[in-house]
Amino acid sequence: MGASLARMDCAAKIRGTARYAFEHRLPSPAYLPPVQATIARGRIRKIDTRAAESVAGVIAVITHESAPRLASAENKELWILQSEEVHFRGQLVAAVLAETLEAARQAADLVVVEYEAAAHDARFAAGREDLYAPKTVNPGYATDTDEGDAEAAFEAAEVRVDSNSTTPMEHNNPMEPHTTVALWDSSRLVLYDSTQTVHSVRATMAKTLGLKVEQVRVVSPYVGDGFGSKGEPHAHNILAALAALRAPGRAVKLALTRQQMFSVAGYRTPTLQRFRLGATRDGRLTAIIHEVIELTSRFREFAEQTAVPTRLMYACANRRTRHRLAALDVAKPSWMRAPGETPGMFAGEVAMDELAVACGLDPIELRVRNEPERDPESGKPWGNRHLIECLREGASRFGWSTRDPRPRQRTQGGWLIGTGVASSTYPRYVLMGSRATISVEGEGRYRVQIGAADLGTGTWTALTQVAADALECPVEAVQLEIGDTDLPNATVAGGSSGISSWGWAIVAAARELRRLHGSKPPAGAEVSAQTPKEAEDKTFAQHSFGAQFAEVRVNAATGEVRVSRMLGVFSAGRIVNPRLARSQLIGGMTMGLSMALHEESVLDERCGHVSNHDFAGYHIATHADVTDLEAIWLDEVDDRSTPMGSRGIGEIGIVGAAAAVANAVYHATGQRLRHLPLTPDKLLTVSLKDTKSRKG
Ligand code: MOS
Repeated sequence: MGASLARMDCAAKIRGTARYAFEHRLPSPAYLPPVQATIARGRIRKIDTRAAESVAGVIAVITHESAPRLASAENKELWILQSEEVHFRGQLVAAVLAETLEAARQAADLVVVEYEAAAHDARFAAGREDLYAPKTVNPGYATDTDEGDAEAAFEAAEVRVDSNSTTPMEHNNPMEPHTTVALWDSSRLVLYDSTQTVHSVRATMAKTLGLKVEQVRVVSPYVGDGFGSKGEPHAHNILAALAALRAPGRAVKLALTRQQMFSVAGYRTPTLQRFRLGATRDGRLTAIIHEVIELTSRFREFAEQTAVPTRLMYACANRRTRHRLAALDVAKPSWMRAPGETPGMFAGEVAMDELAVACGLDPIELRVRNEPERDPESGKPWGNRHLIECLREGASRFGWSTRDPRPRQRTQGGWLIGTGVASSTYPRYVLMGSRATISVEGEGRYRVQIGAADLGTGTWTALTQVAADALECPVEAVQLEIGDTDLPNATVAGGSSGISSWGWAIVAAARELRRLHGSKPPAGAEVSAQTPKEAEDKTFAQHSFGAQFAEVRVNAATGEVRVSRMLGVFSAGRIVNPRLARSQLIGGMTMGLSMALHEESVLDERCGHVSNHDFAGYHIATHADVTDLEAIWLDEVDDRSTPMGSRGIGEIGIVGAAAAVANAVYHATGQRLRHLPLTPDKLLTVSLKDTKSRKG
């Protein structure tokens, strides 16, 4: 561990021999484009499939009238083609299975669906009367918390900030679309799936279809990322399985198009947030109130944990957090990289910047003054909190000390220049239920098996390093196998918990091997172990922290924002592979930059769908947006977290990044923007007037 090994799957990916879901070579493939609902709510009155069936090469047209019955309706997102009900525009209501993709798509266009539309409601707004409090927010946190009397403390505060901010709906958009290939051989369903979790896809599919788990196999050796949206099966998985059941022996291939991904593969809920801070004149917090409104689909609840990070960031005796949901006739939100922390820390860290301005304090100094000795919510000691070190390390590397705190002080040509900072945090999660098997292949050679996932993040490499360390052998002596439910059970590549959870199982198996067979285990020896119970120990409040710094240039004529420099400094325990870690962290920061400047799914209330559902309309940061972006980390080993000393790095890179950019825009222009993305229209009133012209 700690070596910058190149990706072990690098050559296979470059040569094209690494098979992604759609690319598995299977006998008798057939293609399955879905037909999607064109109303936001109502019923299907009639489906006319005659024209579609007459297209040459069509094997079957599957509708709610002809589809096999599902066994469990518990997950309404997966309960497709079972009734005439339509819950949202874009819902999968039929599909065509054909010999070629061309025939299938032509026929899918010829399926005529008659609807009886009902009034729908897709209005996401603060003033709704029917906002409600969910029982908990994901993945089981309290919906509301109260410490002290936050409202009274806010009213009585010497300095007050009342900050209303919004983050838009965003779609995950991994490079590889959601894809599944389903093959039913009359006894077993095999799915070649693009997923973050083979075992939970298997469990959910088996339950929904009424099969035994042994009757389902999920294979997923390589994945072109997911950012959370592939952390659970979606309706397309069920659709492919239903078609496979109808056509035994055929490999039913379904790759969602980019447009389809905007309605059936999950997204980040938009948020409306009110963040109030009360403080003494010298910047000590006396009140924190964070109220969040977000949306869920009416047919299945999803409650993003947006205000949860507010409970731990800063010391304060009076704190209130609230989550309220608007249940709408829209597709179901899902997980997207650091769900909760990403939108919540945007609001909170912009508000902290406002408070720094209001108190006349440096924003880093403000955070230092409010550093909590213990976790404010639980009172537990911190496992490993190094926020201030991250801020200070970043400040010194970024050149913070020479910053003029006043806004609108730097210009260069027609550009206003500013810098901003924000904190970052993400919980340390270790999930229970992973198992690793190690078998001794020959002298000093090991096979390590665990059904883990590699989203493109580097699991193949990092787990091999973890195993080699635990087995005290070179990485070449370890043959890792992942991405298949035929391997021992593994938890999801989500919540930045993958390497921690799987790695712990591998370390436990290696220790067991050593205990049973000593340091030279004989060929043929085999042991198996689970992530141990001690992973659930809750003595310490365990979180990762970070500091995000951004420098922006705002064009005074056009309002265009360019991020000229970004630095992230993170505290995430031991870094298993610096090369891959840097890539993940700057990937997260790039996604944060993209969130700051571009990303916005526009929900059209009138028809209840996302109108900019492609890359022409939904903008994502590209190379041209990223100029000088660096991620570094504190040199640390967190023995309280995992036996590897690591804590997980998949998500913390995005948290706080958009706030750092927005705070830098304030510093550049004097305009406080609280509504993402920071598109030019929001900055058109900026001008170079009133700025002293200085060399930048
Ligand atoms: Mo991540 S959004 O927890 O897969």
